[in-house]
Amino acid sequence: MSIETPSRPALRTATVPSDGILEGPRILRRSPESSAPYELFELRPLGRVIGAEIHGVDLGATLLPDLRAELNRALLEWKVLFFRDQRITSAQQREFASHWGELETNPFIPVGDSDHVTRFARGATSPGFENIWHTDVTFRPRPALGSLLRLVEVPPIGGDTMWADMAAAYDNLGDEVKERIDGLSAVHDFIPGFVRFSGADDLARRQAEFPPVEHPVVRIHPETGRRTLFVNQAFTTHIVGLDRPESDRLLRLLFAQAHVPEFQVRFRWAENSVAFWDNRATQHYAINDYHPHARVAERVAIAGDRPF
Ligand SMILES: [Fe+2]
Repeated sequence: MSIETPSRPALRTATVPSDGILEGPRILRRSPESSAPYELFELRPLGRVIGAEIHGVDLGATLLPDLRAELNRALLEWKVLFFRDQRITSAQQREFASHWGELETNPFIPVGDSDHVTRFARGATSPGFENIWHTDVTFRPRPALGSLLRLVEVPPIGGDTMWADMAAAYDNLGDEVKERIDGLSAVHDFIPGFVRFSGADDLARRQAEFPPVEHPVVRIHPETGRRTLFVNQAFTTHIVGLDRPESDRLLRLLFAQAHVPEFQVRFRWAENSVAFWDNRATQHYAINDYHPHARVAERVAIAGDRPF
């Protein structure tokens, strides 16, 4: 009696399985793919496509136009910039951020002592809950352009933040999925992410004040022109024109793109570390592993434009 040896499938380099997510080597590109070196500071990449530490810049000093331009180029290229040892005041943090536009506050999170500075004190008294992949305030018609977060008090271990590059997330979808989502819009609502901030009595008022909004599933970045996946688990409720099971299936697949390690960077905070991220091109996730230690951060957010 002969036993047949089962044959193996041929080795693959990159494939698109039925769920439409590319496996194998990832497409990892930045934009603008900078050929010009950075002249006014030292830039140390923390990964292939997202995250770079900037050395030699004092965020408390007057920001001159040349430096502002070069930092903006770095922000577009690396999507999140990190600065160490910035002993700056809330007012200086605000002043620096204001070079990117008007400042705004999140209507659901209480602000701190000074205007436009949101203070996140988590761990000791409140367990923290930003551990869900999201883009900030996409339930608004004009979600924030970006944010500047400074850690005031750091837990002895843990409390890292992760960011994901949503242009890479788009690039690595299979062609069939790209065609499927091209031109689609999705509904964003504060309810899934922020309903906890509303008491039963003011929920109706909040819902009237912040009705659901529609954004394109794929937005074009206004400065780089790159196609960027723009749905997130905290605020995107469904895709317009699809029945609920089909919308849920597609959203699950698209949400999972933020979970791919090659598109991510993870940052270990120290006191006075600052992160400056492009909210139009990224999602982030605050790792909730430090309770009951305290983690205190101050954030300034910059108003954005309407996604297209
Ligand atoms: Fe956030």
